[in-house]
Amino acid sequence: MSTQLGTMEELPQSYRDAMAAASVGPLWPQMRNALPHGAPKPVTRSHLWSYAMLRPLVIEAGELTPVEKAERRVLFLADPGRGPGTMQATSTIYAGLQLLKPGETAPAHKHTPSAARIVVEGEGAYTVVDGEKLPMVAGDVILTPTGCWHDHGHSGTAPVIWLDALDLPLFMFLEGSYAVESPLQAPRNRPDTSEVEYATAGLAPRRNRSKRPDAAFPMMRYPWARTEAALRQMAAHHGGEAVELDYINPETGEHALHVLGFTALMLRPGETLKPALNSASALFHVVQGSGVSTVNGAVHHWSAKDTFSAPVFADIEHHNPNDAPAFLIRVHDTPLQEKLGYYEERALS
Ligand SMILES: [Fe+2]
Repeated sequence: MSTQLGTMEELPQSYRDAMAAASVGPLWPQMRNALPHGAPKPVTRSHLWSYAMLRPLVIEAGELTPVEKAERRVLFLADPGRGPGTMQATSTIYAGLQLLKPGETAPAHKHTPSAARIVVEGEGAYTVVDGEKLPMVAGDVILTPTGCWHDHGHSGTAPVIWLDALDLPLFMFLEGSYAVESPLQAPRNRPDTSEVEYATAGLAPRRNRSKRPDAAFPMMRYPWARTEAALRQMAAHHGGEAVELDYINPETGEHALHVLGFTALMLRPGETLKPALNSASALFHVVQGSGVSTVNGAVHHWSAKDTFSAPVFADIEHHNPNDAPAFLIRVHDTPLQEKLGYYEERALS
């Protein structure tokens, strides 16, 4: 059977005009765009955002725009496959580098999209989520889930920069993206739940499970020091297998957020890792170390604080040529795809 379908140009102009006037369109010329044969054709183009290139622009944004005018002073990562100005790093992942200068605050808001903040540099800043004060230390992952009030402040002495990852593209697609503003929150006077209630893996406070009011997002902060220690411990005793940990909800074991998921990945010295092709798009943020990753033939030489993207079903190979381990955080959209009954992995040929 031929796969050649008719084109728009083959149709008489009068018919095309009549369709336009009737607000309809012919499917057959676009059939292969909507349903490509055999495998998806991603629009996303793998790209490396070098922190050395981005940092001066982020700092300059702080000079050009006072935080009162910007509220959220962010440079977002625009997927080259979609072009400049696109608020998407992949099909489902929005990501942006946000700057906070010492003494600055940003008012509270809450919104339908969920976010996670990966702290890139600086110390002394904090995020308050539903009254929980969360210190921001480099490498930490901090959740600001859907519908949760969040604001931030900075009592340190140097700029703090973090990478925000949001499911914003999905909510824009749903025409469901909006925010509500509020003044700064009064934080509770105690450490966050990662230190108080979930300080040890496998242990959670004893409560009547049916009455847990905060089970949706019980832990908002995943301190990097603990993540790195867990990765190193696993690497030492896990044979030749990949060293990758999921960020999970400590009450349910499910992904930490509804739409986007997060993993921490360690590449041992000299290790080459070739993950299975899978239907999730991804963003890799380098916390520590350097290496090289090939994504669909694009070769990215990365070092600490860089970020690179991978489209769906990307052919990926990571390599750490150094004597020291490298650590990356992977943002992906597997939770969404699992909820759709769609997530797919393909064995490597
Ligand atoms: Fe926000």
